Amino acid sequence: KQRVLTGITTTGTPHLGNYVGAIRPAIEASKDSDNESFYFLADFHALIKCQDPALVHQSTREIAATWLALGLDTDKSVFYRQSDIPEIPELTWLLTCMTAKGLMNRAHAYKAAVDANREAGEDPDYGVTMGLYSYPVLMAADILMFNANRVPVGKDQIQHVEMARDVAQRFNHHYGEHFELPEAVVDDNVAVLQGLDGRKMSKSYGNTIPLFLPEKKLKKHINKIKTNLLEPGEPKDPDTSTVFQVWQAFATPEQTAEMRQAFLDGIAWGEAKKQLFELVNGQVAEARERYETLLASPATIEEELQKGAEKARAISRPFLEKLREAVGIYKIS
Ligand code: TYM
Repeated sequence: KQRVLTGITTTGTPHLGNYVGAIRPAIEASKDSDNESFYFLADFHALIKCQDPALVHQSTREIAATWLALGLDTDKSVFYRQSDIPEIPELTWLLTCMTAKGLMNRAHAYKAAVDANREAGEDPDYGVTMGLYSYPVLMAADILMFNANRVPVGKDQIQHVEMARDVAQRFNHHYGEHFELPEAVVDDNVAVLQGLDGRKMSKSYGNTIPLFLPEKKLKKHINKIKTNLLEPGEPKDPDTSTVFQVWQAFATPEQTAEMRQAFLDGIAWGEAKKQLFELVNGQVAEARERYETLLASPATIEEELQKGAEKARAISRPFLEKLREAVGIYKIS
């Protein structure tokens, strides 16, 4: 059996990029009986980027409701909140003591912060917390806690999965073979979805289209996608267009071929966006209703998470016990 695991950081409202890049493929994978699926809300990770307690809490609720509304079968998979598993922060420490500082120096998120500071003429470490610096160790603990061998992620997360592999290798080398070496699974057909401004759709750029916007707002957001100044009738380049890229992420291959032709024939931007709205709205409308119902019923969400935590801890508790023993931490007898 393959053990598949992935998480989403609870720092905002789930957007089309999270859906296409992570949630949709993960729910598909969970239907395959050859897989055991572990999906979680990364709320400890959220604290690295977001110090607004209300936002972290609200986002946790929204992301949980999103997975459930989209039909994740929580009997066939393990769906939990990271902070409900106390073995994860404990494993983080065991791994921290096996992680080379030099490895963390190379992590993209940390390096980007340092580079931005340098460019602004600041102290390179200005605003850099130990949370940001050792973020890949926490992520390694998420993965290794459940000995996942497959980790479906977007391209931006590949480096972190590779670091988890390095840390696992070092631990195994030192204390014996405890961990499977995880691999990132990146679907090449699923591109990094672009946001309203054409950059990667990302909470931190504020350019997202939330997945479950009310219909009118969804239409407004789609109308805000940046386009060039070509008039109706002028041929448009599908391969550089965000409208086309989002279309492709939701359409069948036939629909994509038709839209490609329409672009070359000079479809008006207004018309292309109207069709895009109808396509996306058609696919999310039913789940959006379930989402609204779930948000109004926090007890249902919490119950699901408690059920997931119980299943997860049935694995993490005995495994951590073994790891403690491996490093020499156990009762004196
Ligand atoms: P996060 O919360 O930034 O993103 C969640 C997932 O969505 C993918 N994604 C995208 N895919 C396509 N197009 C986009 N525009 C787009 N934006 C985001 C991300 O690649 C990711 O797969 N550190 C992780 C969360 C995490 C995790 C883990 C993941 C914590 N522990 C263990 C896997 C395993 C993060 O911040 O993802």
